[in-house]
Amino acid sequence: MSEKTLSIIKPDAVAKGVIGQIIDCFASNNLKIAALKMIHMSKREAQGFYAVHSERPFFDSLTDFMSSGPAVVMVLSGENAISKNRELMGATNPAEAAEGTLRKRFATDIEKNAVHGSDAPETAREEIVYFFPELEIVNF
Ligand code: CMP
Repeated sequence: MSEKTLSIIKPDAVAKGVIGQIIDCFASNNLKIAALKMIHMSKREAQGFYAVHSERPFFDSLTDFMSSGPAVVMVLSGENAISKNRELMGATNPAEAAEGTLRKRFATDIEKNAVHGSDAPETAREEIVYFFPELEIVNF
């Protein structure tokens, strides 16, 4: 089933200069880019995006990090895009991520973990509309 999911190349990966390598990984795994832009989130925008984690001890540090520099936000489209993207990313903690995954290759630590991907269809819908109006999303 063709799905859409939200992907973020986080500020650590942008600073490392690996945007191209990450996009190449999506392209070579049949995930198409249906929308893409570079943004520098404010603290408030990062807090809004991660509102579900607002009670976690790492919330303040996470939202500082996510607003520390530019990030690339994308809508990825393809067969089972949500689970495929999560497979390509690997475990949240790069120390536990499988060899060859994006987090194993590019993450710094459990917080600065290079990429974000939606975890379920409902979350994907909510996360996509957080950044992209309908007009900015291509339908293949
Ligand atoms: P992400 O997949 O974007 O979802 C929530 C983010 O919170 C996660 O990636 C990490 O960047 C961060 N995160 C999750 N767990 C921890 C933790 N234990 N300590 C610090 N940051 C975390």
